[in-house]
Amino acid sequence: MIRWSFTKNNNLFDAGTTSKLAWQLLQESIVHYRGRPVGTVAARDPDIAELNYDQVFMRDFFVSALAFLMRGDTEIVRNFLETTIKLQAAEPQMACFKPGKGLMPASFKVVSDGKDERLVADFGEHAIARVAPVDSGMWWLIMLRAYVRASGDPALAYTPPFQRAIRLIIDLTLTSRFDMFPTLLVPDGSFMIDRRMGVYGHPLDIQALFFTALGAARELLNPAAGDDYSAYHNAVTERLGHLFYHLRNHYWVDLERVNKTYRSRVEEYGTDAMNPFNIYPESIPTWLSTWLPDEGGYFAGNLGPARMDYRCFLQGNLWAIVSSLASDAQSNAIMRLIEQRWDDLVGVMPIKACFPAVEGNEWRIVTGSDPKNAAWSYHNGGSWPFLLWLLTAAAQKTGRTDLARRAFDLAGARLNKDDWPEYYDDRQGRLVGKEARRFQTWSIAGYLAAGDLLTHPDHLHLITFDENPEVAACANNAADMMEQMMGS
Ligand code: GLC
Repeated sequence: MIRWSFTKNNNLFDAGTTSKLAWQLLQESIVHYRGRPVGTVAARDPDIAELNYDQVFMRDFFVSALAFLMRGDTEIVRNFLETTIKLQAAEPQMACFKPGKGLMPASFKVVSDGKDERLVADFGEHAIARVAPVDSGMWWLIMLRAYVRASGDPALAYTPPFQRAIRLIIDLTLTSRFDMFPTLLVPDGSFMIDRRMGVYGHPLDIQALFFTALGAARELLNPAAGDDYSAYHNAVTERLGHLFYHLRNHYWVDLERVNKTYRSRVEEYGTDAMNPFNIYPESIPTWLSTWLPDEGGYFAGNLGPARMDYRCFLQGNLWAIVSSLASDAQSNAIMRLIEQRWDDLVGVMPIKACFPAVEGNEWRIVTGSDPKNAAWSYHNGGSWPFLLWLLTAAAQKTGRTDLARRAFDLAGARLNKDDWPEYYDDRQGRLVGKEARRFQTWSIAGYLAAGDLLTHPDHLHLITFDENPEVAACANNAADMMEQMMGS
């Protein structure tokens, strides 16, 4: 039974008091393993069944890790990294029911028999709908880089087990593939959106995270460790360049782009196709041209054969800014879109995972009639406060701290009062999510990390990347190669 040992200030929003309460809650969510703090539980709602919310999730802990690192508490993050490295699948597997080599678990828990404790990892074999996490290894790499930057010490990352783990993740994501694009081919629901939502194929959220994680891996590879350094370094740099070219060119959506698709030829064969993915103009949704502001744009949610998913996924777009996957002009355009479509994308609670929601028959087909993902709820148009830190980082990187501040104040006015819900529902995020857990740790940590970034903008360097000239040079080569292969 959880006991809350503080008095809540329900009426007046005061950022200082709210942060103090949030810190207390974050401390109380810490999980210990053999006496050491190793992570934070996903949620501690005393009224709703735990399911797997009592576990330490890789992606959820990433947000806690940022809050801890920004506060100067590196120990729990180090312990987490050392603990999860032992859970990574490290042996080659032909057996389909075993996790593939290099995979990191979605979550883990500590199980005790009274005498000793052991860790039990979930690679998706227990998760609802048995979804395996494509994103876990990526979060791990980005967290390791943040840890190195916060502690100022690359020693941990340079140890042989860590160098091996980094290579295993690179192998897993770069070696085996079915298609011939730089983007990663993934199943539906294999990341933060861990339910069927039509996010199979090449979803932006994963591609942006993949780009960021490879950028982290590139920095973390130790030049002095092993003869294979150059091979890994070059492969990662090349893939970064190809992703950079592919995403910037083929995923970008603005009025000019939409107009081009609207008037484009289809069914072109050969290398000089102007519409290489064969996107039919009829597939452009009716809401798009009125919704897009004159100035402003975003990366599309997905791209595949005859498929451009025009839904705007905010997590991927914000990561694109933070990682410099987006050009400066594109980053500014994304922030302008957020500003101009504030009511739709932020409303009264930052920020939508995805806009707009799929409804009616489309909802039936896309989600498999999932009531949790009903229109304007949960992943399907619901609002996720944990993304506040990411919005803040992207806003700061583009010089739009005014937007970050506005979002922070909106969130602060409600989160503590509503007991830190996991998500909000409704077009503008006015309702606490139908099945949202209260005391959701990443909602708490996201608020703390955002507040810290606002008061210590110098902490931004833990997570942002500058555009890398070597990567940009590879992107130019990619332009020639890919245009030969696909046309442009
Ligand atoms: C939900 C979210 C997922 C998160 C998990 C734990 O399943 O969709 O992204 O990691 O809850 O909070």
